[in-house]
Amino acid sequence: MGSKIQAFFDERAAGWDSGVPADVIERAREIIEGLGIVPGSRVLDVGCGTGVLVPMLRELMQGRGFVAAADVSMNMLREGRKKYGRAFAGWVEADAGRLPLRGGTFDWVLCYSVFPHFEDQGAAVLELAGALRRGGRLAIFHSKSREDINAFHRAAGGEVGGHELPDEPEMRNMLEGAGLEVERLENRSDRYLALAIKP
Ligand SMILES: C[S@@+](CC[C@H](N)C(=O)[O-])C[C@H]1O[C@@H](n2cnc3c(N)ncnc32)[C@H](O)[C@@H]1O
Repeated sequence: MGSKIQAFFDERAAGWDSGVPADVIERAREIIEGLGIVPGSRVLDVGCGTGVLVPMLRELMQGRGFVAAADVSMNMLREGRKKYGRAFAGWVEADAGRLPLRGGTFDWVLCYSVFPHFEDQGAAVLELAGALRRGGRLAIFHSKSREDINAFHRAAGGEVGGHELPDEPEMRNMLEGAGLEVERLENRSDRYLALAIKP
């Protein structure tokens, strides 16, 4: 794919897991557990990184169903595949804006800690909505507030300097523009969650 963001995350893949604090992972688990994902679900995990959500999903789904773990960074995918194998999760090199997957098939599309990095967020939401079956849901979430995420990227600068979560009206517009119905838009000190269903 050869994008700058791919190179950025490729370089960080080997040390990625040791840099993620335990409380951040715990908050992701709390959010995941509150979504209502059931055994047998077909889940697309976009920006999966090294697969932090995979063991949580395997537990929630009691090993039944399937996770398509997608990322632009081959090195991130390689780390995830090393840890969790291919039985429950398939590892797919893909950009959120151009998914090489059949549309209309997923019960869930999850975007954890990735949305600010999408080059064209509106186009990505359209593509992700297209991946959902009717009645399927898109969840965009973070273990921090929108303000904290945006400040973190501003402070980091460089490749991720301008990468931000949009404000509530803009996120709502993007989701509704893609034909989704917004069910939850939460921005708390310890989490961000945008949840929308494809009617
Ligand atoms: C901040 S990391 C988070 C990874 C993982 N979700 C986690 O929390 O550990 C963002 C991930 O999104 C991936 N990514 C960035 N832009 C993407 C895009 N347009 N499509 C798919 N993945 C992307 C990066 O390669 C990276 O692995």
